Amino acid sequence: TRTHTVAFIPGDGIGIEVSAATRRVLAALEAKCGDFHLDIAEKDYGSLRYLRTGAYAPKGWLEDLQQYEAIFFGAVGHPDIEDHISLWQLILPIRQAFQQYVNVRPCRQIEGVQSVVAASSHVDWVILRENTEGEYAGQGGRTHVGTPHEVATEVAVFTRVGVERFLRYAFSVAAQRERKQLTLVTKSNAQRFGLVLWDEVAAAVAKDFPEVHWDKMLVDAMTVRMACKPHTLDTIVATNLHGDILSDLAAGLCGSIGLAPSSSLNPSRERPSLFEPVHGAAFDIMGQDIANPVAALWSACEMLKWLGEEDAAVRLDAAIHESIRRGITTADLGGTCKTSEVTEEICSLLSDA
Ligand code: IPM
Ligand code: MN
Repeated sequence: TRTHTVAFIPGDGIGIEVSAATRRVLAALEAKCGDFHLDIAEKDYGSLRYLRTGAYAPKGWLEDLQQYEAIFFGAVGHPDIEDHISLWQLILPIRQAFQQYVNVRPCRQIEGVQSVVAASSHVDWVILRENTEGEYAGQGGRTHVGTPHEVATEVAVFTRVGVERFLRYAFSVAAQRERKQLTLVTKSNAQRFGLVLWDEVAAAVAKDFPEVHWDKMLVDAMTVRMACKPHTLDTIVATNLHGDILSDLAAGLCGSIGLAPSSSLNPSRERPSLFEPVHGAAFDIMGQDIANPVAALWSACEMLKWLGEEDAAVRLDAAIHESIRRGITTADLGGTCKTSEVTEEICSLLSDA
């Protein structure tokens, strides 16, 4: 059997619930396939640890995480802690430290899911979001704090190296897809430095991918195109912040944020990549066993593919689709099932398959 080491960080809120569901399903999948094993180490990093100790994770945590092949992440956030603290102590440092510079967020129409775009056209998108710099560089500051003269800056940092490595990966993804179509999203009419650099680097990189048909959209117009002409899009490529926003829009258009997976990849594979649902900790629904586990399960599917376990990923993907087709769904999809019921259904579909 092939063994893969995986660090599991359930985190906070419904992240804990969907991570538990994912572990159950992965165990069922492992038993069914019988040819691979996930050596899982669960890490109790999160807001409760912060409230207890003043830190989200113990000293040396990034060095520790470095040894795993992959990281599975639930969600982070707590009603008593400001979000910028929790995010900058846990998820954002992981993406940066491990140079997970490509964030992949597929979004498809699913049979059995009501979606606002489904009626009119077929949607099969993949959003590629730059994941380590840009608007999330963490640069800026505040002066004259609290006075009428206060000034706050939020500096987006784009490096040629960072933009180029990301766009090269994005074009290579588009080149492998059936339609080979890429839409570059910027706002270079207003953002005249960093996003003009994006336009220039994209034009240069595109020369190495003559088979890819590409066009450019300003991010504001892009939201309209996604809503009104969804079938004209295939691979969507955007900066860190634009990609963040567009991926939520995409999830909403396709039916539910409860379905959307996310992979933060280090393409060199020198450091671990991270897999997580797009949704957050959602305290409003935590503890009720009603969170949709599918976004986490689809993220686990992407993780299995990254680890080379294609057969397991295909089986899991099929079981998830089948459970939705049968209407075994949570409230966000109009169903009446609990998280645990969806999880059990998927486990039994796996063992029957
Ligand atoms: C996401 C989330 C994160 C982001 C937060 C939790 C930092 O919204 O993964 O989309 O903004 O990247
Ligand atoms: Mn987001």
